[in-house]
Amino acid sequence: MSEPDDSAPLYGELLESARRLSFDLRGGDTGAGTESDRHGMTPEWSPLYGTPTWHGLSEPERRRLTRREVSHFLGVAIWLEVALQIVLLRRNHGVDPTRADVKFLFNECADENLHSLMFAGAIEQLGERYSPLDRVMLLMGWLFRTFAWDEVAYGIVLAGEEVFDVMQRDWSIDDRVAPAVRRSSHVHVVEESRHMSFARQKMRDRLRGVSRVRRYVSAVLIAVGAHIIAKGLVNKGIYRDLGLDWRTAKQEIDRNEHHRMMFRRATAPLVEFLDRERLLNRVARAVYRKSNLL
Ligand SMILES: [Fe+2]
Ligand SMILES: [Fe+2]
Repeated sequence: MSEPDDSAPLYGELLESARRLSFDLRGGDTGAGTESDRHGMTPEWSPLYGTPTWHGLSEPERRRLTRREVSHFLGVAIWLEVALQIVLLRRNHGVDPTRADVKFLFNECADENLHSLMFAGAIEQLGERYSPLDRVMLLMGWLFRTFAWDEVAYGIVLAGEEVFDVMQRDWSIDDRVAPAVRRSSHVHVVEESRHMSFARQKMRDRLRGVSRVRRYVSAVLIAVGAHIIAKGLVNKGIYRDLGLDWRTAKQEIDRNEHHRMMFRRATAPLVEFLDRERLLNRVARAVYRKSNLL
């Protein structure tokens, strides 16, 4: 793949940011060990927050719920980070490695590997386990990593990064939350901000001068990807593991206006960017509305 390197100053700045501001949490330095008296995440981010099921739980049961939920959220984050690397490394295999944008991409992959390791460590420190993803997510993951082209790959990853950015800002400063999650959230928020700038710039570069049809199709695929991520955060296995009735939990989550409001808040910056880049066509809007992201 060859690509005009006309945004080199920005890529250089991002590389400089990576040099100045990076963490390495290898070796389990995530702050503390298992602490069952803490939540896994800010409770207001639980999809069940405020529902009848939530009100029926004791405080220790709520903490157990958010620990199980955050472990799944982090599993989804790892799934996304690995998929991003497969797509982008495949598309950059054999290109000039001294180009600033390619060097930044290598740096981003290094960040993502350490994030995945850090999140896996946080799941273990919570005393939790990885929840297998459902079949739709596995299929979509395969389609994504096999077929996604640049702006679609960056767009879907940006959607995931924006949602995690807003959630993790809350988790990182909430002392109701277990230290392992607070610390990893802080690191992730800092390091992901340059990834988001990179993804936005790459999308602008790739979309310059493309046909209306391609822009339309890419916009719809990004919306479908964002929809799958948002829906994938709610996993029936975790509610069943906790002895909750899945049908009731699902109904309550679907009707939970608080949950919708939190996710709309999480995607507001993404929606603003997509609108500016003319990536919010009629079909894409309908998909975002269906996933309560708009
Ligand atoms: Fe990451
Ligand atoms: Fe990232």
